[in-house]
Amino acid sequence: MPISRRQFLAASAAVAAARLAPAQARSPLADDPRRPQFHLLPARNWMNDPNGPIYWQGQYHMFFQYNPHAAVWGDMHWYHAVSPDMIHWRHRPVAIAPTPGWADSEGVFSGTAIVHQGKVAMLYTGVQNAPPENSSIRDGQHNFHESQLLAWADDASLNSFTKVMKPVIPNPPEGMTVTGFRDPSPWRAGDRFYMTVGSGIEKQGGCVLLYSSPDLVHWKYEHILAQGLGDSAQTPNPVDSGDMWECPEFFPLDGKHVLLYSSLSRVQWQVGTLDEKAMVFHPETHGTFDAGPFYASKSQLDKDGNRILWGWIEETRPEAEFSASGWAGCMSLPRVLSVGPDNRLHCRFLPALAKLRDTRVLPSGHGKGCGVGSCTDGTGSGVGCLSGVCEVVEEACGEILYRAAGKSFKLTAKRDGDIEVIGVEWDEKTPSELKVDGKVYSLGTDAKESPDFHFFVDGSVLEMIAGGRLAMTKRFYWQGAKAPDLDFAALAQAGSKQTMEKWQITPISKDRLTT
Ligand code: FRU
Repeated sequence: MPISRRQFLAASAAVAAARLAPAQARSPLADDPRRPQFHLLPARNWMNDPNGPIYWQGQYHMFFQYNPHAAVWGDMHWYHAVSPDMIHWRHRPVAIAPTPGWADSEGVFSGTAIVHQGKVAMLYTGVQNAPPENSSIRDGQHNFHESQLLAWADDASLNSFTKVMKPVIPNPPEGMTVTGFRDPSPWRAGDRFYMTVGSGIEKQGGCVLLYSSPDLVHWKYEHILAQGLGDSAQTPNPVDSGDMWECPEFFPLDGKHVLLYSSLSRVQWQVGTLDEKAMVFHPETHGTFDAGPFYASKSQLDKDGNRILWGWIEETRPEAEFSASGWAGCMSLPRVLSVGPDNRLHCRFLPALAKLRDTRVLPSGHGKGCGVGSCTDGTGSGVGCLSGVCEVVEEACGEILYRAAGKSFKLTAKRDGDIEVIGVEWDEKTPSELKVDGKVYSLGTDAKESPDFHFFVDGSVLEMIAGGRLAMTKRFYWQGAKAPDLDFAALAQAGSKQTMEKWQITPISKDRLTT
């Protein structure tokens, strides 16, 4: 007799539980179905930006902004996790903590890993309370002085770091009144290093500052590498008006140079060329990297030299709710970057994620709204006829691939029968546009074909990439103790070759990464 996935999992869990002797206290978060099962997140409490991801001596290391005390932002530390493949993670102890009375006493902010003389170094921003005239963070809540700091890994495990107890860049450049000064991102160029620092100039706009160094310790300010136009909105936090650019990074990709930064609640990109002699960047195209709550991205090279991008997936529910839940935020799935034929930034989910596909033969689901077809003229065939495909992601833990070759279509994912989680529409008459939840996004002016769709659903997280050209992260929440099934259903014009494939995903941990 076929058993459902739910019965199968329940039976396996019972067997596993019986083997656990003595019984271990289980965190209530292990049973919170809104908590992802194959995205990286800390065992509990708040996280934000990815920091210093690096492939080092056969392991992938990820660090990220972490509050050890509560599921709200505050007292930033660096959490640490390791992985053989950027997919399966093990938690490590906190790697970098604030030093009382010193330059990072109020927080170890975001930063980047770099290898020098066979050792891993972290460059990061420290914040310390200061009078307003000496503070580059004056957001109405805090007055913080920001400086750029250096720490060296104690050994190959990257479990602990020793700080150089003198800021390597103690202040913003002389004579500049900045709206912020943080998130250093160094790289090696021959026998020297360059580094970007996120900043902005009051009433002029966000910008990226460029520094150079022979040794990671002594840094010289060069010039502004990139700058935006000011927004006269004058919000208390300049990041909200685009007057401060956070988490910049600059790297070569596919014969071009890419600049990433975070501002206006989104990751922004520019593709262009670098005059390597003058170190001047000439941007050619620009855009928003992900249209949803995906922020403060950070990239790394994988062991094969691919450029992998990570982002912080934020909560979109009220703070009182996530704070009460005991956890907040998670890391995005790894995305492989490229510069497309349209000279724009493209991305795909890491192909190796396919190893998480649950390949056991399970009864395939039939979603609501999963009709075989319908015709507006009532004939059963001819113009105006639509054909449908559908799949069910059970218990919000799965993957969907969809393609409708060349013809207009509409695809929705619904939970609990009829609550729409996401809806996308593509019209063959306007091939370079995609409507997501009623809003029109550009797929790039050269887009002629219907894009393929790749979705991952994990607890309260949904990540979508359409045609490698539009990424969209979404959060969806519900009440209760059971994750909903998600019905993916698409209707395309008759004659289109539609395919929808689905896989349930095998969790990367037995307890939603609470150990
Ligand atoms: C971006 C950011 C960074 C900063 C960190 C602090 O989300 O504001 O600019 O370093 O978070 O947690």
